[in-house]
Amino acid sequence: MNKRLLITRRLPDAVEARARATYDVVQHADDRQMGMDEVLATAKTVDALLITLNEKFRADVIAKVPENIKIISTYSIGFDHIDVPACKARGIQAGNAPHGVTVATAEIAMLLLLGAARRASEGEQMIRARAWPGWAPLQLVGRRLDGKKLGIYGFGKIGQALAQRARGFDMEIHYYDIYRQPPEKEKGAIYHESLNSLLGVSEFFSINAPSTPETRYFFNQATIEKLPHGAIVVNTARGDLVNDADMIAALKSGRLGYAGLDVFAGEPKINEGYYDLPNTFLFPHLGSAAIEARNQMGFEALDNIDAAFAGKDMPFKLT
Ligand code: DGY
Repeated sequence: MNKRLLITRRLPDAVEARARATYDVVQHADDRQMGMDEVLATAKTVDALLITLNEKFRADVIAKVPENIKIISTYSIGFDHIDVPACKARGIQAGNAPHGVTVATAEIAMLLLLGAARRASEGEQMIRARAWPGWAPLQLVGRRLDGKKLGIYGFGKIGQALAQRARGFDMEIHYYDIYRQPPEKEKGAIYHESLNSLLGVSEFFSINAPSTPETRYFFNQATIEKLPHGAIVVNTARGDLVNDADMIAALKSGRLGYAGLDVFAGEPKINEGYYDLPNTFLFPHLGSAAIEARNQMGFEALDNIDAAFAGKDMPFKLT
């Protein structure tokens, strides 16, 4: 008899086909979001869970996971929605999907950098509002990327992939991370030993760090004050790395020039202040929304589940 697998959302065809070839899949055909009560009730009837970042497995929820569940795999690189120590304490193996998102997310970061620098959302809005008066020398004048310093906070796979793309636009790459990368990964990027040092040079600043107790809300008024005046910031990591009230105040005052944001604290209910700010370029968490990425994420999440059922460690086990 096949094992039963709860998949909390619909996934790309290729991923679902692979899942169905091995497991009896339990999911909502209409892709509606499951509440946590429903996830926990359904968990009693299956052998493993394939979840997304929308289902929050905090300690109080982990405590309610039924005994039959020893395998949880998330369809995401981020795992700030899973209390890993609480899983361990319950004997639950948890895993993530760490590689599929890399290129797609770096592309979105690049798109945000370009869109923010060249005021893409204002241009788009002008046309859609039928308010374009025609070409004019001073209309929506932005900034070029070439020769500018791009500071990358978090120089893991996505940060490095962004650096590679930004080099193609002749940007000068600077970064800060807890660990310095070897020269073959730096590829000429300039390492800063502190975040403050990185902020001081970052005409463009990209947030590429995971959400952890150490990084949460690090981007706040004090951080912003250290950036060059009018700096452009983009965030493709997690919304809760940013203090929204401080970011919005700085965008209003001009202390920050522009923000390109793909992620928001409390999404999809984002801070009201963003909606009417003209100097923002806003996406609904599209970082990994490329089919190549979404397929690979699914395969990685399934690799975890297959390995765990085979009595092995998950290849992308969270520790
Ligand atoms: C992830 O995988 O954590 C991303 O945020 C999804 O796009």
